[in-house]
Amino acid sequence: MSILEKLLQEFRDQFDEAPETIVRAPGRVNLIGEHTDYNDGFVLPMAIDRYIWIALRPRDDQRVLLRSLEFESLVDLSLNNIQHTEGWQEYVHGIAWVLKENKFDVRGWEGILSGNIPVGAGLSSSAALEISLLKAFLAISDLDWDGSLMAKFARKADNEWVGVKSGIMDQMISANARKDYAMLLDCRSLSTEFVPLPKEINVIVLDTATRRGLIDSKYNDRVNECNTAAECFGYETLRDVSLETFEESKIKLEETTFKRARHVISENQRTLDAAKAMVNNDPLIVGDLMNSSHESLKKDYEVSSKELNIMVRIAKDQKGCHGARMTGAGFGGCAVALVQKEITEEFQKNIYKEYHDTTGIKPNIYACKAGAGAEVYYHSS
Ligand code: GLA
Repeated sequence: MSILEKLLQEFRDQFDEAPETIVRAPGRVNLIGEHTDYNDGFVLPMAIDRYIWIALRPRDDQRVLLRSLEFESLVDLSLNNIQHTEGWQEYVHGIAWVLKENKFDVRGWEGILSGNIPVGAGLSSSAALEISLLKAFLAISDLDWDGSLMAKFARKADNEWVGVKSGIMDQMISANARKDYAMLLDCRSLSTEFVPLPKEINVIVLDTATRRGLIDSKYNDRVNECNTAAECFGYETLRDVSLETFEESKIKLEETTFKRARHVISENQRTLDAAKAMVNNDPLIVGDLMNSSHESLKKDYEVSSKELNIMVRIAKDQKGCHGARMTGAGFGGCAVALVQKEITEEFQKNIYKEYHDTTGIKPNIYACKAGAGAEVYYHSS
């Protein structure tokens, strides 16, 4: 049974009728441009064909009741009195809070949520949750959708309600993705350019099946380190320091600060170069840039992990793999590889076996299609 069928069945069982509205928002895999978004830099993610779905119907009061099939837990929220909570429910409270803060006249609703984006794997299940919630609130309240504004709202909820200093990449791609394209995003201006994926390749997600705790605090540390580095150059963000300026600079940075800055500044350039290579349908160059990105994340930014490094090494050694790197925040989770279409199956089999033989862990490996952004999948009116 598909996720959607299960969701509909559960909805009928619980409410004795079909939902009025069904929305969904995708997770993402970032091809390149890692830990650059909160430095106002460039990123190149694509949405994946995995989603958070919500089936819902309106209520006549200001309550939101939402049950998750995966977590078997319930949100029961009054829009007139939003308090902090914990776990996935905190995102629901955060999204409700940001809409109220911005004077959106939203109504109460009730429904069921389900998804197939692995949690904590670096595929942005939390941004998909936030964006699907925004879709649900706006659709049920008959309000107009502005993807970039909603991405900003979701980031604000992350930063100010949940307490993670995340950038805006994940929310922007979940809200605005285009089928069959990756999105070059300028995280300062929020301008986007959709670039086609090289024709003869598949994007393969390599989930190490490892997850790291305490990731929020390590992530916030990196944000602070970057801000320190930018300050040393007299700027607010590292976006304003070009690779040239950095290489020629006589400013003495403390070693960690230097390494963090070198990663961000070089990664911005790699991301722009990769987008150009994609437009030229040149997977070899994109792959090389992905390999360099991984090295930089491993050595300078220090957000990779033993398993991610093993996964990337095994992937790069396969014939027909143009490049591989960790993706997302890091410290565990997924890598991503660009692979010739015709060897995809063999590649997946080999990686599974080698990674399992080396680590004793069973990975999850899947080819991903670049999917569309968040949508109202069904609305009865
Ligand atoms: C997480 C954050 C993003 C981004 C990446 C790293 O996914 O939510 O904003 O910073 O890590 O590139």
